[in-house]
Amino acid sequence: MADRPLADSQALKRKLFQTIVQDAPIAYALIDKSYRVVFMNDHFLRSRKQDRDRVLGRKCFENIGFGQPCHVCNVRDVFEKGALCKKLRKEILPDASHLYSDDLAVPIRDPGTGTIEYVLQILIDRTAEMDMRERNFASFIQIINSLVRLLEEKDYATCLHSRHVSAICAKLTRYLNLGPEAVFNATLGGLLHDLGKLYIPDAVLNKEGTLDDREYAIIMEHPVFTWVVLSGLSSFKPMRDVAIAHHERWDGKGYPKGMSGEDIPIEGRITAIADTYDAMTCDRSYRPGLSHEAAMAEIKNVAGTQLDPQLVEQFVAMVEECGYDRDSLTDGSVAFRDAGLMIEEYNDSGNELPTSHWEEVKAPSAEDYVLYVHMPNAQGAAESPSAVPQQGGAATFDKASEDLLASDEFIDSLLNHTPAMYTLVDEAWNVLYVSDNFAVAAGRPRSVILAGKCFHISDKKEPCFKEEGGFALCPPARVFATGEKQRSLLEKESHAKRYFTDHYAIPTEIEGPDGKKIMCCLEILFDRSREKNSQHAFEHDVKLLIKNVKNMLEEILPEVSANSHHIVHEIHRFCDYLNSIKIGPFEPLNDQDQ
Ligand SMILES: [Fe+2]
Repeated sequence: MADRPLADSQALKRKLFQTIVQDAPIAYALIDKSYRVVFMNDHFLRSRKQDRDRVLGRKCFENIGFGQPCHVCNVRDVFEKGALCKKLRKEILPDASHLYSDDLAVPIRDPGTGTIEYVLQILIDRTAEMDMRERNFASFIQIINSLVRLLEEKDYATCLHSRHVSAICAKLTRYLNLGPEAVFNATLGGLLHDLGKLYIPDAVLNKEGTLDDREYAIIMEHPVFTWVVLSGLSSFKPMRDVAIAHHERWDGKGYPKGMSGEDIPIEGRITAIADTYDAMTCDRSYRPGLSHEAAMAEIKNVAGTQLDPQLVEQFVAMVEECGYDRDSLTDGSVAFRDAGLMIEEYNDSGNELPTSHWEEVKAPSAEDYVLYVHMPNAQGAAESPSAVPQQGGAATFDKASEDLLASDEFIDSLLNHTPAMYTLVDEAWNVLYVSDNFAVAAGRPRSVILAGKCFHISDKKEPCFKEEGGFALCPPARVFATGEKQRSLLEKESHAKRYFTDHYAIPTEIEGPDGKKIMCCLEILFDRSREKNSQHAFEHDVKLLIKNVKNMLEEILPEVSANSHHIVHEIHRFCDYLNSIKIGPFEPLNDQDQ
């Protein structure tokens, strides 16, 4: 291995740093403790359509037209929490286009004083993936809405009832501050709570006048039918809880289980209030609906017997505080737009850190993602900024930041103490550089990785290179074949768990020990296991739901009216679309990234 360039030579690390900030389609920015932007790489500026001279030296929030730090701000969070912060971020650009990205903000501390002097912001683009997820999610919501329309076709008397209940549930959950996931679950759960009524014969469901015991027994089965359609789906558990529990009573006299008090899941207790309110106020063919005031009085009346008294108190407070009447309380037009679950993959935080690839290796802790860099020339920081553009796009606005970016300590830190992992391989698959955190994740000593070839890391005897549809699966192989940057989502199984990495492969030329140029591929990896695994679990559940829905449709098909056939057809169409989705491992780079 004598001909290999020295992995730990400062010259090599400098070259890697240059490649990372100049060539990788990843946005990097350095922000000081007064929120001033002191560095922004070309990709950041280009992808955000910003002008270097206007951005550098100004406060980050001023650059997007705000007078103070944004409502949700990773930089402020880093200063407050003192640890790495991670968010999924959506930006609307001046031309109204949008970008989704993983926003990683890493603190940079001066080891002498311990103060956080700067925040290094790393933005990894996820727009194509999130747009696709939004489209798929929209189809999923269409299926749910079509199911509700089918229910409405069947049962005119409770027309819009499910939508009303959903809207009330969403408002009350939000008022109770139960978080975005609870809002989503309540919105969807409220919408689906009476789905089981599709199984109830029309003659019973639409009967005017009193039901006999046998008919009442049939009606009482509808929560269980909804439960059956949603069974086996872990992501739909809260909706199932809503369905099974919305006719339970606080005093234990409800059905189907006769649960009481807090044994009834909160989702069910919330839906019971919404259901009771809407059932009382809607018009039926055999009686007009009660007024809003009369319904509110009755809700208070049954608090402690039928309904949870504390939740009723909150419900009454919400209605008074927000000045709701029947129309505004049951208006669900914005419920889903506000629910926004799929976007809220994670809100934060320092605790949700990238996992290690191999189970037996301890995942990095928050402390591993702090850059400790002695602040060079800190007192020389210019008060009035003047941008100093440099060749290749790096530009800083004062001497202190410029010195920081050029310091060996900063470059070392960047390569080893951010959630990004790095490797460098040449065309003979020799590993020329590997970052500490990659070695930790791979569960083997860095020196062993550096003495071997890249495929040895995955215990293979030869390159992982294989063709699929004329496309090499190994990103460096694609880089060497095409000379172009590559981005993939790589999946790997270990100890029966699935791990995912967002993988950038960037061509770069480095200088060998004899002065000759060596063609190499720099690989930058970000762990995505947590998000991808939860997304896969949800997709799995959606497919199972589709199966259950199709079974249900077949069973009720002889009963559905001619008018409902087109809805059944529509549901099948959305189901087929969702079933046909196959997300490939390659996510192409946008044109602007090339
Ligand atoms: Fe019901």
